[in-house]
Amino acid sequence: MAEQDRVYMNPLPVRIWHWANALAIVTLCITGAQIRFPDVINIFGSYGTAVSLHHAAGIVVVLSFLLWFFYYVVITRTFGKIYLPTAKDLQSGIINQALYYFFYYFLGTRENPHKETPTNKFNPMQKCAYVVIMMVLVPVIIVTGLALMNLGPLREFVELLGGVRVVAGIHFLVACALGAFLPTHFYLATLGHTPLAHFKTMWTGWEDHSEH
Ligand code: HEM
Repeated sequence: MAEQDRVYMNPLPVRIWHWANALAIVTLCITGAQIRFPDVINIFGSYGTAVSLHHAAGIVVVLSFLLWFFYYVVITRTFGKIYLPTAKDLQSGIINQALYYFFYYFLGTRENPHKETPTNKFNPMQKCAYVVIMMVLVPVIIVTGLALMNLGPLREFVELLGGVRVVAGIHFLVACALGAFLPTHFYLATLGHTPLAHFKTMWTGWEDHSEH
């Protein structure tokens, strides 16, 4: 007989940050593509509309990032425990996890080497990817985006970074990296005990553990 066990994995601030951020980043990728390649892509009518929507979505990313940062770093102080890979994660954890995703998952011969708990939510691959995304890529895209949005008042800062072309170039390259992360993230998120299990957990906060 199956015993249902529910674990509260994602508290409300994490879920609000995640879905606001996801919607905003997808909007930024699409509007950004139109802004960068206006002759080829025209989804939002005028160029001005794409720019306005891009700016609004950028503000959502800033606000949601502040929520994420305050929740994990300042209020619960769980950032280090949850997001930072340990020495063991880097030495053998990543390889074991990658072997599982590339081979054992398809062969069905081994279980996932990582067992999620609220204080150890991420496997070594997730820790490495998420810490780089949340502590490097998102802050860099925010700072370069805010600089490009406020070229007048922030001119000296932009010059310090190497000028508009350098800042716009970095902003575009980091946007490409985040755009490339999305399909991988989406695919890996479908590999729970059912294809929608992780999505439900990120929506409701609760994860169902069924023991047979
Ligand atoms: C349509 C877009 C997205 C979907 C459908 C999606 C889906 C999910 C799901 C199902 C989870 C929980 C399972 C897991 O940890 O892998 C998750 C977690 C996570 N996602 Fe996303 N995601 C999206 C966009 C993004 C974006 C744009 C970012 C960052 C720029 C992001 C960063 C994260 C992080 C850091 C976590 C772990 C959150 C935590 O528990 O602290 N996601 N995502």
